[in-house]
Amino acid sequence: MEYRFLLLLISFTWACLHVLIASIQLRRKSGRTVLPPGPRQLPIIGNILALGDKPHRTLAHLSRTYGPLMTLKLGTITTIVVSSPDIAKEALQKHDQAFCSRTVPDALHVQHYNFHKNTMIWLPASTHWKFLRKLAATQMFTSQRLDASQALRGKKVQELLEYVHENCNSGQAVDIEFSDLVFGVMEHIGKPNIANYFPVLRLVDPQGVRRKMNNYFKRLLQIFDSIINERTRLRSSSVASKACHDVLDALLILVEEENTELSFTDIQVLLLDMFIAGTDTTSCTVEWAMTELLLNPDKLVKAKNELQEVDGPVQESDISRCPYLQAIIADGLTPEDIDMSETFGITLHKREPLRAIPMKT
Ligand code: HEM
Repeated sequence: MEYRFLLLLISFTWACLHVLIASIQLRRKSGRTVLPPGPRQLPIIGNILALGDKPHRTLAHLSRTYGPLMTLKLGTITTIVVSSPDIAKEALQKHDQAFCSRTVPDALHVQHYNFHKNTMIWLPASTHWKFLRKLAATQMFTSQRLDASQALRGKKVQELLEYVHENCNSGQAVDIEFSDLVFGVMEHIGKPNIANYFPVLRLVDPQGVRRKMNNYFKRLLQIFDSIINERTRLRSSSVASKACHDVLDALLILVEEENTELSFTDIQVLLLDMFIAGTDTTSCTVEWAMTELLLNPDKLVKAKNELQEVDGPVQESDISRCPYLQAIIADGLTPEDIDMSETFGITLHKREPLRAIPMKT
């Protein structure tokens, strides 16, 4: 009896093991067929080291071997690299709903205002994201709003010039705290952070990226809070100041409305979004265009001549009369010397490698 029971137990265990092994094999096999090809992965780190110090070149090189859709394992994160215009179209146009959200880097999981859950830039395509997009489109980026605030922008540029001149004359340092904070945020969002590839390390924050971001956000929000508080105080102290002068006034009017969906936190985070998204992008574009001009003195002369034809100091309203200047900026943004028909998407300059643009250190 005991012998038969033992035999039954062995058969049962053997059958269970067989089923288990078969299911693991099936899962591995189906996993292999689902994921696109890619280079061999090292245990734990996957392909992180293979990226090297010029990841764009490495990816271009790898895509020649593994094709326009390839799998890389970055730590524990499975990453699919798309590197041809056709497949990029497939992903971003045909399957835009599936691919339109971004992975929020650990650096942005800051303590303040649950930033990563309220920011337009990083929110997934949700009702709140649509609300914020609509708000930005109607309150900030309509041509009427931009035209109406032209004089205000001119005044602010003038104030900035006067401030710099005064400091120059008195030998005082120009306060660039705000710009340092915004550039600090940009730098730490883009910095390789090991916690993004090994989420288990997020608690430890080994490179201190989130800690530094917390400090930047704390200070930026202090600056915004003081501006918002000052404006709220002004608005409640006089009827005249309630007239809508700028974006902040427009947002404060909306927040005061009954049944409004907009909160003070939304305003603070929206301001952060705009300064983070709009500062580095714009200044890099200008620096890039200026570098290109320095490298092409004949074009620089042409641009200068065009500006000299404008009477008095150049104003925003004069830009429509400066087609050459507009073309220079558009050219800086248009990858006309980048060959998108190559088999890789993160393409290199066709004529020469990308030039470094001047960086403040
Ligand atoms: C030359 C200047 C600029 C460049 C090259 C640029 C480029 C970009 C790019 C590539 C995106 C991502 C689009 C996407 O993933 O779908 C983006 C998003 C964004 N940009 Fe800009 N940008 C510039 C200036 C600005 C300025 C001046 C502002 C604000 C005042 C701004 C605010 C935003 C915002 C809020 C988003 C996120 C939109 C969303 O996710 O719904 N950008 N920008």
